[in-house]
Amino acid sequence: MRREDGDAADNLGLGSETEEPVPLLAAGEQPTRPSINGDHASLKPERASQHRHGSAADFSGERMLRSATERPASGWRRAVFDLTGGLLRVGPSAAEVRERELVARVKLPIRGCRKIAFISRKGGVGKTTTCLLAGHTFAGYRGDRVIALDGNPDAGTLGHRIRRETTATITSLLTDLEAIERYADIRAYTSQAPTRLEVIAADDDPHITQALGEQEFQAAIGLLERHYNLVCLDTGTGVLESATQGILDAADQIVVVIAPSLDGARAASSTLDWLDENGYGQLVQGAVGVVNGVRPLNGAIDLDRVEEHFAGRCRSTVRIPWDEHLETGAETDAEELDDTTRRAYLELAAAIAAGFAEPSESRP
Ligand SMILES: Nc1ncnc2c1ncn2[C@@H]1O[C@H](COP(=O)(O)OP(=O)(O)OP(=O)(O)O)[C@@H](O)[C@H]1O
Ligand SMILES: [Mg+2]
Repeated sequence: MRREDGDAADNLGLGSETEEPVPLLAAGEQPTRPSINGDHASLKPERASQHRHGSAADFSGERMLRSATERPASGWRRAVFDLTGGLLRVGPSAAEVRERELVARVKLPIRGCRKIAFISRKGGVGKTTTCLLAGHTFAGYRGDRVIALDGNPDAGTLGHRIRRETTATITSLLTDLEAIERYADIRAYTSQAPTRLEVIAADDDPHITQALGEQEFQAAIGLLERHYNLVCLDTGTGVLESATQGILDAADQIVVVIAPSLDGARAASSTLDWLDENGYGQLVQGAVGVVNGVRPLNGAIDLDRVEEHFAGRCRSTVRIPWDEHLETGAETDAEELDDTTRRAYLELAAAIAAGFAEPSESRP
């Protein structure tokens, strides 16, 4: 993914930087999040089980290594560092420090496997796109195995968003389930993107995908969780569908995708109502709300109030801007994203990772 130049035009004065290291947040501490408008909104405080006094996860390269903390990643600060052979050090910008903190968070170790479902009762709001880009972001930064599974019973489109290495689908994976033992066996059913994200596609024929229900998805997820650290689960619009039930029962966390419109926000909130009423209240409390496809001028809707609503119900919210590269709905290259979008997905991945420290919420 493209790096941010970290060089705010309005912050060029060398004197504005102090020699004091900018404090990095502890693993469970919630940072303030700059919104698309540039103001800083405080995210909802996280729940009690976070590491207040630090943990082994604090010893990441981003936080502890001199080379990582002293050589600015880009911009004029890096040029000064390089030209003087490191003799003149201008500390990293606040944006760079924050980015490092987000990356450290995204790389938090996962014990076992974490399964994240991307849901909304409204169609076309960006579930597949958010699932894919969150997966790319995690896979790009983490060293372990990350996979995205198309769980849309209505012939999902996840497989169309990356370059396919195989014609295999979840249906063929399920057919051959008994014979699949090792990671190398599963790899024949996945396509891998340059970020290292693997994807299992759905069939293009809805007659085939509709036949997959709760048990089939639980069997597929049961296999994946033995070989992957993070499983991103794309879903369809029907929370009552058998397939979605299987996915929700297996999920440790959810991401609810919200269109930046009144009906979009209402549909997302009614998704949470349904989850609350049907025994998935824990998933709602730990959810991350994603307001997706935010344009610079978003018309009459007050997105701050929309976010406030979801922040009151969920763990946190993140805004993803509308991005020209995503609009095509074609193969998605994470390198082609606008830098603001790339950064927003990093914020999203970090917000999801804030839930990794908590016990699994999946139902037995
Ligand atoms: N942030 C964004 N900026 C621009 N275009 C976007 C963005 N997010 C999604 N899109 C585009 O909007 C369309 C719908 O997105 P997507 O397929 O992810 O929605 P969905 O909720 O999965 O739809 P469905 O309910 O049909 O499964 C796609 O063409 C996608 O590329
Ligand atoms: Mg979809």
